[in-house]
Amino acid sequence: MQRYSYHSVELVRILWRGPRQVMLEYRYLDSAPSLSPGQFILFWVPGSEAIPLTPLYSDASRLVLLVVERGPTTARLVSSPPRHAGVIAVLGRRFTYRGDEMVFLAGGVGVAAVAMAAREAAQSGVRVTVFYGARSAGELAPVEEFLGGARVIYATDDGSRGLRGTVLDALHASGLRVGDVYTVVAGPKPLLCRAYSEAAEAGQLERLALSIETMVRCGLGFCGSCTIPCTGMLLCRDGPVVPAVRLGCWVVRECQN
Ligand code: FES
Repeated sequence: MQRYSYHSVELVRILWRGPRQVMLEYRYLDSAPSLSPGQFILFWVPGSEAIPLTPLYSDASRLVLLVVERGPTTARLVSSPPRHAGVIAVLGRRFTYRGDEMVFLAGGVGVAAVAMAAREAAQSGVRVTVFYGARSAGELAPVEEFLGGARVIYATDDGSRGLRGTVLDALHASGLRVGDVYTVVAGPKPLLCRAYSEAAEAGQLERLALSIETMVRCGLGFCGSCTIPCTGMLLCRDGPVVPAVRLGCWVVRECQN
């Protein structure tokens, strides 16, 4: 049975601002949750709602969030983050990495979904490369200090930083295909679909995991709003990082267009 806890936080500083994005540093005022790679929180914004976020970083005192504007609450966080807020934790399932080498493909704010896993893997001696992509250099958040020494390769649509193209193009340019080593992908759905397709063609689905996004309401496994279609899984309990071998039906349903 999963246990949940509430933690008050206070804004320390705004670490970075990008187009419709912000990186925020909060400090825990009393206790801090114990978050494992792959898990996430509900971040309560007073006067608005609690929204699901995967921290870039969280320890006993410090919480770092990367937020992109997607709706009214995230817009408020980007424009005027509250001085005091709350954290409901812990949601989701711990992600366990495998092997001596791993690749993370992160499109946009998807980098937040993989940062904890990349950091833990790198710090435990796994050879980790994070491919981090965005439309242009100005949209790439300064995340390297949160990746535990993992190698970071950048890709931008306009070529203003790193390789011109997507993170998949950058992966191919480095001589790898999805599934050559264990690969975790987070970002826009077309990226997830292309990565799945590439691994499936190579017969390497067992070496791929996708970070899925759904609506999250209660976050507690009660309401069913976060059901991952075709899998029988709840994102707030079983996700968000899901082994690709469990996503065949999801891909048929979600990746057709
Ligand atoms: S958000 Fe997962 S069951 Fe309600």
